[in-house]
Amino acid sequence: MEKPAICGGTPVRESKIYYGHQYVDEADIEAVVRVLRSDYLTCGPRIAQLEEKLCKITGAQYAVVCSNGTAALHIACLAAGVGEGDEVITSPLTFAASANCALYCGAKPVFADVDKETYNIDPAAVAACVTPHTKAVVAVDFGGQSAELDGLQDICREQGLVLIEDGAHVIGTRYKGKYNGSIADMTTFSFHPVKTVTSGEGGAVLTNSEEYYKKLILLREHGITREAGLMQNPPHGNWYYEQIMLGMNYRMTDIQAALLDSQLDKLPLFRMRRKAITARYDQAFSGLKGIRLQKEVSDSDTTRHLYIIRILEEELTIGRKEFFEALAAENIYGNVHYIPVYYHPYYERLGYRKGLCPVAEEIYEGIISIPLYYGMTDQDVDDVIRGVTKIARYYAGK
Ligand SMILES: Cc1ncc(COP(=O)(O)O)c(C=O)c1O
Repeated sequence: MEKPAICGGTPVRESKIYYGHQYVDEADIEAVVRVLRSDYLTCGPRIAQLEEKLCKITGAQYAVVCSNGTAALHIACLAAGVGEGDEVITSPLTFAASANCALYCGAKPVFADVDKETYNIDPAAVAACVTPHTKAVVAVDFGGQSAELDGLQDICREQGLVLIEDGAHVIGTRYKGKYNGSIADMTTFSFHPVKTVTSGEGGAVLTNSEEYYKKLILLREHGITREAGLMQNPPHGNWYYEQIMLGMNYRMTDIQAALLDSQLDKLPLFRMRRKAITARYDQAFSGLKGIRLQKEVSDSDTTRHLYIIRILEEELTIGRKEFFEALAAENIYGNVHYIPVYYHPYYERLGYRKGLCPVAEEIYEGIISIPLYYGMTDQDVDDVIRGVTKIARYYAGK
């Protein structure tokens, strides 16, 4: 049996590999340089072009791009009318932004447990969390797998709630034949460099509702309008504009927009490669003792942002922490997505306690995100498979 590097064996590779990495080519660089040579670095024509492209790709009627995925969640909550005294239901197995957006609006995040197979928020748990104060559900497409939107939409319609899909991971995924982004009341995207496509920092809100769209535009730009129909007073002149509500400066620059626009041209390629790597991992790890895989959401065509293996401590002589360290010794640097949000000291200070969502907590104990990104070579994929398999086999002595 091959000895893991952590026990003195030879690492499966010499150079380090990380769980994610952006892919930027010459076309991306040229697109950015063209903007740098143009008249508009921000507030220019690239923004509307990009928004149109996002609508075309997803089938959503409206898109509002903004500075990052967190800003997108914030303005989506505000557009949904989330405010003081409201409750917003979300998953604990996510990045803090999915819950922080409720806090920004003066509302209370309520954590509903996740499904033990898909790791997505469980519609039955959501239904059990609804109270007269609930205003919205922020459903995370965990790792790129669509949330169970049908079940969630039923609950939201019945209870008069707004369904906000935190689609930070989901671009390129289809649920029941429709691209995510065109289904929920509002869907937010993130374009951080580890995501499938990037603008450096960036985000977007997609919606089919003209009412939400108009609010989102105002919220992104200080609450300022130049539209005569929205102004309260007659214009003083051509320079005139009015602030008609309190908004933020959450604009995306034209530099970022050009990068993302160019990245989106490669989305079909990015999807294909991610799916191919996922298929290789699935084949290599299904049936491997000590490893459980995240179940694919039924009726979806998933583009994974993350590939997550779950270490089953009961089948191995080591736990997740040791497995993670053993992988690093092989020069394979994973990550853990995510520490349950309410474990963070800030949330503890707000009164949240461990034990709230037992399924999410149990999943957290075992998960590791292994490398998955477009630029991985076949050799990289082979190395990761060899590393994981070597460690799982070596420690499968129980
Ligand atoms: C699930 C989820 N929601 C929201 C965000 C926030 O996006 P951003 O980093 O673009 O603000 C992230 C970012 O990692 C995320 O993973």
